[in-house]
Amino acid sequence: MPDSQEHSPPQHVAIIMDGNGRWAEARGRSRSEGHLAGAEPVRTILKAAHRQKVRYLTLYAFSTENWARSKEEVENLFSLLVRYLDSETAELLTSGVRLRGVGDTGRLPEATRAALAQAEELTAGNTELTLSLALSYGSRAELTQAARNLAQEAQKGLIDPSAVTEEDFARRLWTGILPEVDLLIRTGGDQRISNFLLWHLAYAELYFTDTLWPDFGEEDFLLALNDFQGRRRRFGRA
Ligand code: FPP
Repeated sequence: MPDSQEHSPPQHVAIIMDGNGRWAEARGRSRSEGHLAGAEPVRTILKAAHRQKVRYLTLYAFSTENWARSKEEVENLFSLLVRYLDSETAELLTSGVRLRGVGDTGRLPEATRAALAQAEELTAGNTELTLSLALSYGSRAELTQAARNLAQEAQKGLIDPSAVTEEDFARRLWTGILPEVDLLIRTGGDQRISNFLLWHLAYAELYFTDTLWPDFGEEDFLLALNDFQGRRRRFGRA
C-alpha cells in the first residue's frame, strides 16, 4: 500500500446519493420526482469520473432499509432503474464502462433483474471503468452471508477454518471484486455511513457535502476529488 496518495486521483469512488426526497419536497413535488431528477447526476458524474480516470464508481442506489418505503416509491424507483438501464446500456458499452449490480439482487423485481443481467452481460468485457450499482444492499447482510458461506464450506471440509485469510473473506462478499474505496462522498448533509461498504471503507477518505443529490454536478464532484488529492493518507502508519 502506498504511504501517501497525495496528488493522485482516487481509483475507487463510492457515493451515497442522498437528498432526492428533500429536493422534491422543497419544490412541492413527489419523492419519486426527486429520484427522477437524481438520475441526471448519475449520468453527469459517471462521465466526469471517467474523464478523471477513476476506475471504480460505486453508487448506493437502494439499501436493504429502503424496502420499508411506500410500495409506490419502491416501484417507481425500480421502474426508473429499468429505464436508466435500457437507455444507457448502449452508451456504457461504447464508452468502456462495465456495469454490475451488487447486493441481495435476488430480492429485486423480475424486470429489474432482467435489465440488470442484460446490461451486465453486454458490458462484461469493458475494463476502463466499473460502475457498480448497490441494489438491495446492506453491509451487515453482506458480511453475514460471507461468514455463513465460509462456515458452510468449513463444515463440508472444503476449507481449513484456521487458514482463512482476509482475501478468502473478501472474495465471498457481494462486492468481492471491488478494490478498497479511496474516497466516499455523501451528499444531502448527513455525516454517516448508513451500512454501506463497511469492509471496503476501512481506510477511505470521507467527504460530506450539504448539496442535495439532484443538485450535485461535475463541479461539486471535482471539488471532492480536489479535496481528496490534498489529503495525506497514512493507512494507519506513522
Ligand atoms: C436517497 O435520497 C436516494 C435514494 C434512496 C435513491 C437513489 C436513487 C437515485 C439517485 C435514482 C437514480 C439512480 C440510478 C442508478 C439511475 P432520499 O430519498 O433518502 O432523500 P431524502 O433524504 O431527502 O429523503
